[in-house]
Amino acid sequence: MTTRLLTDGASCPDAPSGHPVMLTTRDGVRFDVRCAPGEDVLSAAARAGYVLPSMCHKGSCGACSATVEGAHELGEHSPQALPEKDRAAGASLLCCTYPTEPLQVSLPFEGNRVIHGSVPERQAQVLAVDAVSPDGLTVRVRLALEPDEVSGAAVEFESGQFVEVSLPGLEVRRAYSLANVANWDGEAELLVRRQPGGWFSGILADWLANGFEGAQVVVRGPMGAFGLHENGVRPRWFVAGGTGLAPLASMVRRMAEWGDPQPVRIYLGVNAQPELPDLDLLPELAEAFDALPDAALVPCVWHPDGAWDGVVGTPADALEKDLTELVAASCGGPVDWPDLYVCGPPALVDAATRAAVDVGVPADQVHSERCLPS
Ligand SMILES: Cc1cc2nc3c(=O)[nH]c(=O)nc-3n(C[C@H](O)[C@H](O)[C@H](O)COP(=O)(O)OP(=O)(O)OC[C@H]3O[C@@H](n4cnc5c(N)ncnc54)[C@H](O)[C@@H]3O)c2cc1C
Ligand code: FES
Repeated sequence: MTTRLLTDGASCPDAPSGHPVMLTTRDGVRFDVRCAPGEDVLSAAARAGYVLPSMCHKGSCGACSATVEGAHELGEHSPQALPEKDRAAGASLLCCTYPTEPLQVSLPFEGNRVIHGSVPERQAQVLAVDAVSPDGLTVRVRLALEPDEVSGAAVEFESGQFVEVSLPGLEVRRAYSLANVANWDGEAELLVRRQPGGWFSGILADWLANGFEGAQVVVRGPMGAFGLHENGVRPRWFVAGGTGLAPLASMVRRMAEWGDPQPVRIYLGVNAQPELPDLDLLPELAEAFDALPDAALVPCVWHPDGAWDGVVGTPADALEKDLTELVAASCGGPVDWPDLYVCGPPALVDAATRAAVDVGVPADQVHSERCLPS
């Protein structure tokens, strides 16, 4: 699908030298770049030395979404990556945004998420590969990153960010959120749901069946704009669909590490019980829950088979019910709305966001990342 957005009837001559684009982050950091004719904004920024949060570079993952003012063409993209309502509100995907006049871009993240130069790449040894759900399809992968000149042994990232994983010598890569926290030991942890016929899923199946001794991967990143927002001590509610749990687990672990006092709730949704990750097999997450002063896990099973005494339905259903109860408990007074962090398939992200905003949660308190195939 190709759409075209023109503002105020502006004419759009294609200047041979290209169009200037002013990019401003949420905390006011400004970058000025120039798009050559036919060049998208993401590529122009990278050419100028600014690597913005992004993944697929083909309009399918939604990671490069930003608000764009000014006339531009929007190239082929997936409607899941840029829902119509976001487009109507001025959002665009920078990897397929082609200016036809000078643009102003508001980036939905802070300046520290912009990588200057090139994305760091490190070799890593596979330390452990363990199935953590009864159906054996959700797999925890632990990696030991080799030290590099910039970070030494440390693995530095903001909870919520992702890395790209490939095999040495191969171009093909897949994105995975980091499920652990920044550390000095060089360790990175991923939570991967194996997909039928999938490339990386097949590699994981092989490691599980035949062992992973000596296996190496290449880790590129960290990248991405998803992350915790420091907003005082408002409760934080996390809504995860499947392995959307990974970035949220990292945030919860970081909160425990920092001794954050906010009440925490995780709604974790799966289709059926055998998909539910076993917290005994994710001991660091279980410990973080124990360390936080007020933390609750709400597992939600959409189509339970056999006995299940937890929530039946999606995490969006459970969220809506609990938010409605908050309103009732406020007896007409002000509601102490939690900050919401949602990660999972687009349908879940959209349903949870819609439910929250309809009940009354301010839109700027809902933060989300869509888990799309990378
Ligand atoms: C920013 C970002 C973060 C991500 N984080 C995670 C994460 O933490 N954990 C995780 O498991 N995945 C995550 N993903 C998805 C991941 O990058 C891969 O797309 C996924 O693991 C499939 O890779 P694969 O090589 O096994 O399958 P592929 O070879 O890419 O695909 C094989 C088949 O599986 C289908 N498929 C792929 N993904 C899905 C899906 N989610 N649901 C249904 N069918 C699918 C494809 O359409 C295709 O038919 C993330 C994606 C992005 C963009
Ligand atoms: S990087 Fe633009 S949609 Fe994926």
